[in-house]
Amino acid sequence: MLKTPLCDLLGIEKPVFQGGMAWIADASLASAVSEAGGLGIIAAMNADANWLRDQIHELRARTDKPFGVNVMLMSPFADEVARVVIDERVPVVVTGAGNPTKYMKAWNEAGIKVIPVVASVALARLVARRGATAVVAEGTESGGHIGETSTMALVPQVVDAVDIPVVAAGGIADGRGVAAAFMLGAAGVQVGTRFLVADECTVSEQYKEMVLKANDTSTRATGRSTGHPVRALKSPFTNAYAKNEAAGASSEELGAMGTGALRKAAKDGNYEEGSFLCGQIAGMVSERQSAREIVDDLVDGAERVLKGASAWVA
Ligand SMILES: Cc1cc2nc3c(=O)[nH]c(=O)nc-3n(C[C@H](O)[C@H](O)[C@H](O)COP(=O)(O)O)c2cc1C
Repeated sequence: MLKTPLCDLLGIEKPVFQGGMAWIADASLASAVSEAGGLGIIAAMNADANWLRDQIHELRARTDKPFGVNVMLMSPFADEVARVVIDERVPVVVTGAGNPTKYMKAWNEAGIKVIPVVASVALARLVARRGATAVVAEGTESGGHIGETSTMALVPQVVDAVDIPVVAAGGIADGRGVAAAFMLGAAGVQVGTRFLVADECTVSEQYKEMVLKANDTSTRATGRSTGHPVRALKSPFTNAYAKNEAAGASSEELGAMGTGALRKAAKDGNYEEGSFLCGQIAGMVSERQSAREIVDDLVDGAERVLKGASAWVA
């Protein structure tokens, strides 16, 4: 059985987080992952307090296992969402897209386990000093908002820099990836892209088909000129966006272009206008499965790889 100190810390059976995914990771997916023994995470994205409260209640109607809420720090509703997670006694908060320190004191005082996503050693150190329970070190292979450093390079440097558990994210979609993350010193993994095709994932059919058909070169990062790069499947939207970016469009113009594009992909399956956020590992995601099958495959696969690893040592 694969168990790490992170499991005891969070009261979960398997060291697998389902990453918060804007417009996608709702109560349906998150409750299924938590029921399977991992940590399901509802993405608060740009939604308001009422939407989040409803999702938390829906999740709790489906499972009594621990779960998390992903607070998107760039959201215009971040302040009210930060309050809801306290009022609703959410056990774990994972923050994305920025520096969460302004909320951490209140969350820590409320007994919430705070696990920021970091793309650099500097931010990992800062949040560790402010009382983070763990950090998610997320490499540039990931879908969604990304940093510059790859998972392979980032995870061991973060592990060396902080005394709290490190969860590896970015480019992990099977047991080999999980085992590799553990070898780098991680105590858990966060997976996004593979869960896009989970049976319980409510994303559009068009989105799932695009992920299933993707190969190793199907994604591209855009938005570096804005300071907020994003990785998505290549599509008419990313082509148009990249063209405008290369032509010197301002951050405001590019921001306006992106408005509504995630919803169009996730909810409407609009191939022409949608932004289909997705990680580089999509080429390895070729099967629709239940959340439980995905969690089990990740963990069982890692056990097999880890048991076999010593065969190379004389
Ligand atoms: C479609 C999609 C949407 C995402 N949205 C968010 C988000 O709202 N907040 C966040 O912190 N991370 C977000 N992420 C990142 C994931 O939580 C996770 O860290 C990442 O997907 C892990 O890398 P992988 O895609 O290679 O599995 C998103 C990822 C994807 C694929």
